[in-house]
Amino acid sequence: MKLTTKVTELLDIEFPIIMAPMFLVSNEAMMRSAMDSGIMGCFPSLNYRNEGEFEGILDNLNKYKKENNVTGNYGVNLIVQKSNPLFVKHLQVCIDKKVPFYITSLGSPAEVIEKAHSYGAKVFCDVTNVEHAQKCYDLGCDGFIAVGQGAGGHAGPFPLQLLVPSLKKQFPNMPVVSAGSVATGEGIVSMLAVGAEGVSIGTRYIACPEAGVNDAYKNAIVDAKMKDIVMTDKISGTPCTIINTPYAKKIGYKQNWLEKKLSTNKRTKKYFKLLIAFRGMKRLEKSIKPAGYDTLWCAGQSVEMIDEIMPIKQITEKFKTETFETLAKLKRFSAKEVLA
Ligand SMILES: Cc1cc2nc3c(=O)[nH]c(=O)nc-3n(C[C@H](O)[C@H](O)[C@H](O)COP(=O)(O)O)c2cc1C
Repeated sequence: MKLTTKVTELLDIEFPIIMAPMFLVSNEAMMRSAMDSGIMGCFPSLNYRNEGEFEGILDNLNKYKKENNVTGNYGVNLIVQKSNPLFVKHLQVCIDKKVPFYITSLGSPAEVIEKAHSYGAKVFCDVTNVEHAQKCYDLGCDGFIAVGQGAGGHAGPFPLQLLVPSLKKQFPNMPVVSAGSVATGEGIVSMLAVGAEGVSIGTRYIACPEAGVNDAYKNAIVDAKMKDIVMTDKISGTPCTIINTPYAKKIGYKQNWLEKKLSTNKRTKKYFKLLIAFRGMKRLEKSIKPAGYDTLWCAGQSVEMIDEIMPIKQITEKFKTETFETLAKLKRFSAKEVLA
């Protein structure tokens, strides 16, 4: 089932879904399933931090793509921030292995854009407002990932029904992919209706056998409701969405006065932010190993609509079927029926 948009054409995929990059969750098996399903699979380079590991994964994915008749594609998410000590190294590996697609988050994407464009790769930038999008546009990015309210991870402050059209108004020719709160085909159609040419979906794809996390986390995604999602500063220093587990409640959601002071003081902020990110990463890492008491599970509000753990191929087929059914349903509406 094909659905052609500017994004599918640019990224060489059949259906306009990006399986969103997820720290500690995304892995090679997920990328292969995404490619087999005709969508774009993305993973954060930081999921592979041991010597030689990242290079190996890219070799495997390039080989898989070449040897199998895949209808999808894969891409890498780079955290382009000073607090990412592996950025320079990982970018060079990506260029050497000719990664076809990039998503940049947090800092300036200038270097990624310049290097990726040298061999024709595409770069989309995570943005949460028009001002940040303008900076990425001026640097020559190929598209935006509009990260809105309710998204898993570092959610944006604005509703996607407003953020997507505001980006299209300012940059009419730029492809926009919406990120946040979609777990059904109806949700995909709603994003296409406000102007997106693709949808980036994270949380729904945690509840699949391929994901590299424990069953307790996957079951928590199925069991949680949107009221159970809270924001915390405790993981990376930047507000991040998590399931409100007893441990999350115990450690609180806000940095204390000393942490706040250290993360804003000119002399200490760089090192303190690194420390917070490192501590947060360790806490998350612990939570994806066999379940213990101290669990911190990252997820977005779309948990509300997730009822089952399913293989990626099946999740994606469901998305496709629901999308076409919804489009057909809307086509059948006459103005009278809508008003009735
Ligand atoms: C568990 C988890 C980890 C994430 N890790 C990252 C990451 O490493 N880099 C990034 O750019 N976005 C990350 N995100 C955000 C996703 O890429 C995407 O924007 C988001 O999941 C879309 O919203 P949804 O979860 O409501 O579908 C993460 C999201 C989740 C749920």
